[in-house]
Amino acid sequence: MNPTVSVDVHLAPADWAAVLATEVRAGLAATPKVLSPVWFYDERGSGLFDEITRLDEYYLTRAERAILTTHAANIAHLPGPSTLAELGAGTSDKTRLLIEAMRDHGSLERFIPFDVSEQTLRSASATIADEYGLSVRAVVGDFHRHLALLPREGRRLIAFLGGTIGNLDPVQRQCFFTALSTTMEADEWFLIGTDLVKDPHRLLAAYDDARGVTAEFNRNALRVLNLQLGADFDPEAFDHLALWNVEEAWIEMRLRARRAQHVHIDQLDLDVDFAAGEDLWTEISAKFTPVGLGEELASAGFAIEASWTDPDGDFLLTLARLQD
Ligand code: AVJ
Repeated sequence: MNPTVSVDVHLAPADWAAVLATEVRAGLAATPKVLSPVWFYDERGSGLFDEITRLDEYYLTRAERAILTTHAANIAHLPGPSTLAELGAGTSDKTRLLIEAMRDHGSLERFIPFDVSEQTLRSASATIADEYGLSVRAVVGDFHRHLALLPREGRRLIAFLGGTIGNLDPVQRQCFFTALSTTMEADEWFLIGTDLVKDPHRLLAAYDDARGVTAEFNRNALRVLNLQLGADFDPEAFDHLALWNVEEAWIEMRLRARRAQHVHIDQLDLDVDFAAGEDLWTEISAKFTPVGLGEELASAGFAIEASWTDPDGDFLLTLARLQD
C-alpha cells in the first residue's frame, strides 16, 4: 500500500485562541474559579503528561497497555473494521498495539487520529504512515464540538483510550456518548478505556506524585495563560492539590493561592483577584465501576460486547457496539 497522510483542520490556531480567551474569561469569573484541562497540553504540558505516564504512582497507562497487550488480537479479530479511529489520539503510543494487531490480522486500511493538537498529530501521523505503510487521515478538532466531523470512511473501530473520558462530568459524558452513537453505524465498534474506583490512597498518589511532576503539570495551566494570553500568574504562588470526591467518584485537581494575589491578563484586558487559600479548579478525573459505565453506555444506545481489566483490576477496557 502507498501510505498517504492528510490532515483535516477544524480547529485552526485562530479558533483555538478565541476559544481559550472566551473560556478563560468565563472560568475566572465563575465561583469557584475554573479552567478547562484542555489547556494543560501545550508542548511543555504534553511533555509533563508523558513523564506522568511513566511515574510509579501513575498506574493507568501501564494497566491499559497490559490490557491491550493481552487482548489486542481479540479486538483485531472482530468482524469488519478496516478503519481505526482514535479520539484524543496524542502520540498514539498504546494505539500501536491495536494497529499492529489489526495489521497482522490483515484488516486495517486506514488510521484516523483525532486530536486538538495539530503539531502532535502531524508528527505522529507521519511516523505511523511510514512505519506501517498505512494511510493516515488526521483530524484536528475538539471532541466536544467536532465529533460529527469524524470521517465516515470504511467500517470503523473508534477508540477512546487513556481514561480521558474521565475529564467529563456525568452530563457531559452523556452528551458525548450520545453524540458518538449517533454518528456510528450498526457494524462499527467503540473501544473505551476507563480508570476504576479503588483505594483512595492509590488514587491520590497517582495525582500527587512524590516527585511533584503532576504538581508541575497542574501549574503549567498558568504558564499557558501567561504565554498565550499575556497573563502574569506566578505559578509558584499556587499549591497543587488533589482531592478524592467520594460522592462524585472523581479526583479533583486544584491550584490553591498561597497568599492573596492580583493577576492581570493583558490580552483579555482583565484583572483577577485571588484571596489567600482560594482555589482554581483545573481538572476532574472521574473513576468508574463496570456497572456504572455499562449503564451510561446503555442509556446512550450502546451495548457492551466485551470488557477486560488488567491483572490488578485497576483499569477497564470496554468494547461496545450499537444496541440492536
Ligand atoms: C489524560 C485525562 C487521562 O485524568 O489521569 C494525569 C490527565 N491529570 N495526571 C488523567 C492527568 C493528572 C489524565 N488524562
